[in-house]
Amino acid sequence: MTSQTLREARKYEEASEKLIKKEERPSFHLSVRTGWMNDPNGFSFYKGQYHLFYQYYPYDSQWGDMHWGHAVSSDLLHWEYLPAALAPDEFYDRDGCFSGNAIELPDGRQLLMYTGVVRERQKNGGIYEVQTQCLAVGDGMDYEKYEKNPVLDEKNLPEGCSRFDFRDPKLWRKEDGTYCCIVGNRPEDGSGQILLFTSSNGFQWNYKKVLCANHNRFGLMWECPDFFPLDGKWVLLVSPQDMRPQGFEYHNGNGTLCLIGDYEEHTDTFTEECNQSVDYGIDFYASQTVLAPDGRRIMIGWMQNWDTCSLRQPDQPWFGQMSIPRELSIKNGRLYQRPVRELDTMRKNRTAYENVTVSGTVRLDGIKGRMVDMELVIRPADAADLYHKFALRFAQNEEFYTSLSFRPGESILKIDRKFSGSRRAIIHQRRSLVDSHNGELKLRIILDRFSAEVFVNDGAQVLTATMYTEQEADGISFFAEGAAAIDVVKYDLC
Ligand code: FRU
Repeated sequence: MTSQTLREARKYEEASEKLIKKEERPSFHLSVRTGWMNDPNGFSFYKGQYHLFYQYYPYDSQWGDMHWGHAVSSDLLHWEYLPAALAPDEFYDRDGCFSGNAIELPDGRQLLMYTGVVRERQKNGGIYEVQTQCLAVGDGMDYEKYEKNPVLDEKNLPEGCSRFDFRDPKLWRKEDGTYCCIVGNRPEDGSGQILLFTSSNGFQWNYKKVLCANHNRFGLMWECPDFFPLDGKWVLLVSPQDMRPQGFEYHNGNGTLCLIGDYEEHTDTFTEECNQSVDYGIDFYASQTVLAPDGRRIMIGWMQNWDTCSLRQPDQPWFGQMSIPRELSIKNGRLYQRPVRELDTMRKNRTAYENVTVSGTVRLDGIKGRMVDMELVIRPADAADLYHKFALRFAQNEEFYTSLSFRPGESILKIDRKFSGSRRAIIHQRRSLVDSHNGELKLRIILDRFSAEVFVNDGAQVLTATMYTEQEADGISFFAEGAAAIDVVKYDLC
């Protein structure tokens, strides 16, 4: 039975979606149907299509009581909106249906697990959100909340675990048919931990153990965990809040990182070996993965940063876009990402240049656009004479641009949207230490109307940033102090 709250949301989104023109949205990145979007939820392959749900407040372009929006796609690039899947309409989730995940049950139904939120006034007068884990079962369109919700609450938590920071379940089914889920939680040390729960049928759950604890190493509370095997290792993805910077690896604020290690399934023991940032740019958070039918592990993230949401004017009819889905792999102990290969079919109008010397500013015929896939190899024009700085400017006109600049002496790559048209006093740039020898660097840059994703050295690192520069600013130019040589291959994405 669809509740009144969900019916209203469905009616509202259908009407207000029509007020947003196609050209006012990203072209191949999923954006919210109307209103506000944050985290990807329930990223799954079900009944022959990719399903992506998301944190959703249809009635305003600001965060509000969370619903689940819903979209499907067969290629991860062209999305079709489906009616909102969940609304905050029960006593256990009346203040929000927070993030969660989806799997297919053996009987063919789809099982959603999400965090139900209820605001509770405390004795000291403060209001805290109590968070529990809840289920809904459906057919890919309509979902029925489970009559025994919530299935995990404070009674399932060991002593010292916060009932206020207990959210974002990730579900999976083991080969023996039993179910696991991990949930982010805050222990007494005030930082984050990932709790593991198990179930024989997906409906009755029991606490198993702490899968991994932050111990105040990376930020405080850990949100949105994901855990999966990849290339002989296991990867734990988490999105910590309140991070402090560590060198050029981790930056302030919300971040997304992965812990790579081994997992002993019989004892549920995860042994960490190394960790790294997942994205070194400004806008990437709360990532989730799906296992594609062909075996690829594909990750998507909210292409936004909580601290910089004010970049976009509040009077816009939509706020929030997802990153491009990225294929993951592990090479030499590092997580590599590349845009899903489906993007190759959108490449049109190939323009290529080889060995162009750049000294001062250079513009190249045919190299422009705001929906672009561009590969760039940079090296010194003369191997014995290292250039001092190289810069690429894009989304450029007389007034605006966003830039990538590289100083080979320091091996630092910087993304900077300060001149993209922003009127806000928020961070606009991020720097990253990249692997470069003798001034050589390889980049692949994916531009959509409101974003840039930069894959460095075949995806060893990625820097993502959003920008809302007017679309007429479609110039691309190259600049060097000293002399650099570049190879460029550029496609329009149609
Ligand atoms: C992460 C997050 C999640 C929560 C959701 C609420 O961005 O804070 O932890 O489930 O957003 O919208």
